[in-house]
Amino acid sequence: MEKLLKNFEDYLLDNLPTSKTFHPYFEDALADMLKAGGKRFRPMLLLSVLKSKKSLLIPNAMPVALGIEMLHTYSLVHDDLPAMDDADLRRGFETLHKKYDEVTAILVGDALNSEAFNLVASAPLHNDIKIELVKCLATNGGIDGMIIGQAIDCYFENQKLELEQLEFLHIHKTAKLIAASLKMGAIIAEYDLSTQEKLFNFGIDIGLLFQIQDDIIDETQSSEEAGKTTQNDESKNSFVNLLGLDGAINAADELANKCEEQLNSLDENLKDSLSELLLKYITRHKKQ
Ligand code: IPE
Ligand code: IPE
Ligand code: MG
Ligand code: MG
Ligand code: MG
Repeated sequence: MEKLLKNFEDYLLDNLPTSKTFHPYFEDALADMLKAGGKRFRPMLLLSVLKSKKSLLIPNAMPVALGIEMLHTYSLVHDDLPAMDDADLRRGFETLHKKYDEVTAILVGDALNSEAFNLVASAPLHNDIKIELVKCLATNGGIDGMIIGQAIDCYFENQKLELEQLEFLHIHKTAKLIAASLKMGAIIAEYDLSTQEKLFNFGIDIGLLFQIQDDIIDETQSSEEAGKTTQNDESKNSFVNLLGLDGAINAADELANKCEEQLNSLDENLKDSLSELLLKYITRHKKQ
């Protein structure tokens, strides 16, 4: 796992967008948030699934893993904008609109979004596989995924949603891209369709758990600890606001147990490969 993460970090640093124009800082801004780090959860999901069946393809899949990370990073850059969550800190650094300006942050997000698909399309993989990957990333990162989730998240600030609507919001905003990361690993590994679907559905639960934990972090951690602006969900339909902190921790516990059962029901190779990465997340909200 550590080695896979190191390989990914090395690949990322070697493949940052390099073209330099006479803009004084746009290219620096484009690289800043990618270099700043983060957990790299989504690319590691993809690579872990691939490792369980076709580890020789890992180098060929690196551009796809980086593409997912770019799309996710774009979503964070836009999420922090004043019109959305208005946050000053991300991945331990000043957000791009604070360090540079809003125009730059908007356009860096746009560029990372386009470049994500460029990377997938240019990967040394079969064309029919790449079409499936593009469809999966576009659907779950776009209109039927992260974007509609973010739109609902922002529109319904200060308006309480029903529990079912709350699930819809978080499944779209966060869980679908996480589920897509698992599925894209399965597409490259050429797992059968039922395994692809099983992994996607598992990813939805993992993604929901991830967002409940993120909402708990907003409530319980300082910005310094989290490396991003926290205590920032006051007006949001967060799990903590709807269920209370204890309620959110209980909901996370329940979902964590469900995720552990699903993990144990996977084929041995998949289970082994994903366990190391996921067990950490499955239990991370629990008090030490
Ligand atoms: C934060 O994502 C936004 C959510 C969807 C909860 P991460 O917690 O994966 O952020 P990084 O990539 O580690 O910075
Ligand atoms: C954002 O959720 C999810 C995205 C699609 C970026 P949050 O707004 O809770 O993420 P953080 O807490 O700012 O990282
Ligand atoms: Mg947000
Ligand atoms: Mg936010
Ligand atoms: Mg949050």
